[in-house]
Amino acid sequence: MIVVMDWRRAFLVCEVFLTIHCACSSVLSPPQRVKVESSVLTWNGPKNHINITYVVQYNTTLNDWRDVYNGTQQQFNFTAAAEDFYGTRFRVQSKRGNQTSAWEMSKLVQCAHLHTCAPIIELKVETDRVHLWMKHRDPSLEEKEGGHISFNPLYWKRNSNNKEELSATSTHLVIEHLESGQEYCFQVEYLLLHKPHGKPSREICKVIPETSKQRNVRVIMLGVLTVAGMAVLGCCLYFVYTHYKRIKALLQPPLDIPDHFEEFFFSEFPQHPVARPGNQEVESYDFVNFVEEVAEDEERCDLENEKKM
Ligand SMILES: *[C@@H]1O[C@H](CO)[C@@H](O)[C@H](O)[C@H]1NC(C)=O
Ligand SMILES: *[C@@H]1O[C@H](CO)[C@@H](O)[C@H](O)[C@H]1NC(C)=O
Ligand SMILES: *[C@@H]1O[C@H](CO)[C@@H](O)[C@H](O)[C@H]1NC(C)=O
Ligand SMILES: *[C@@H]1O[C@H](CO)[C@@H](O)[C@H](O)[C@H]1NC(C)=O
Ligand SMILES: *[C@@H]1O[C@H](CO)[C@@H](O)[C@H](O)[C@H]1NC(C)=O
Repeated sequence: MIVVMDWRRAFLVCEVFLTIHCACSSVLSPPQRVKVESSVLTWNGPKNHINITYVVQYNTTLNDWRDVYNGTQQQFNFTAAAEDFYGTRFRVQSKRGNQTSAWEMSKLVQCAHLHTCAPIIELKVETDRVHLWMKHRDPSLEEKEGGHISFNPLYWKRNSNNKEELSATSTHLVIEHLESGQEYCFQVEYLLLHKPHGKPSREICKVIPETSKQRNVRVIMLGVLTVAGMAVLGCCLYFVYTHYKRIKALLQPPLDIPDHFEEFFFSEFPQHPVARPGNQEVESYDFVNFVEEVAEDEERCDLENEKKM
């Protein structure tokens, strides 16, 4: 009895195992050893990879996946891709006909996996000096390359192509003795075994402000000039004030001339030449006055005669 029971149990276990095995073999196995190096994603396909294609996706948010590759190759080279895959994960799936495998994830893409990572540069300009900080975007590159990776800080005057190296003794540099009023540009690149590596950082260009000493000199000069200017202006105003009448007299003749002309033009003697300079005008003016007086006298006489009549 007991023996029969055990035999039945063994048969059941066997059956369950067989059905699981069948299910497994009918499912396509996922790609293995998914890894990223120098902007190339690689993986190993299933053993019997005839007619198998692979689908590669990356996540744009935590749960949103986007297709980037469909094909039979066991790699995806994104060196020239427009997308920035930094900070994302890849996942790869095998496909045969309507059979698909589970997804296989890559590690989070970091600087060590790319060929384009750039150092981060920060700059602070004070009077007389510039502070420069250099940082890795993440610690992966340092972990991978150890002491072989280093920063190479550069600076140059704007519009000059002569880039000069600074010695990177630490990740915080203080740069002094820059020419004030000049615009300088700063940039940091990676050196891997003393050769440029990855991409250089962004360039930051800043005008170096003048030192406190230079500014004092400028402020004093400006003050002296202002005081001198105001003194000159004051003198001018005082002169005008004290000589007001004389200046008015000096300005008068040219202002009065138009009146003379007016009377001259409206007088009843058109046979007189119109424009004559100098004394002749004054003479003619006197003459007109005289004529007018005579005319007035005649009118008065007429009026008196009328009254008498
Ligand atoms: C691969 O696919 C082609 C058609 O796309 C088919 O003719 C061929 O038999 C397939 N090979 C295997 C081993 O399934
Ligand atoms: C992709 O997913 C990982 C976790 O799997 C997450 O850390 C990462 O931030 C995601 N990427 C983006 C761009 O959201
Ligand atoms: C990959 O193929 C699927 C269909 O199998 C299609 O929907 C998708 O757009 C393709 N993606 C790319 C990147 O070619
Ligand atoms: C990836 O593509 C770039 C050019 O786009 C090429 O220089 C590089 O050798 C390729 N890498 C591999 C592993 O094929
Ligand atoms: C897969 O496709 C074949 C024909 O190509 C079809 O007979 C089969 O039912 C499909 N299986 C599933 C699970 O859709």
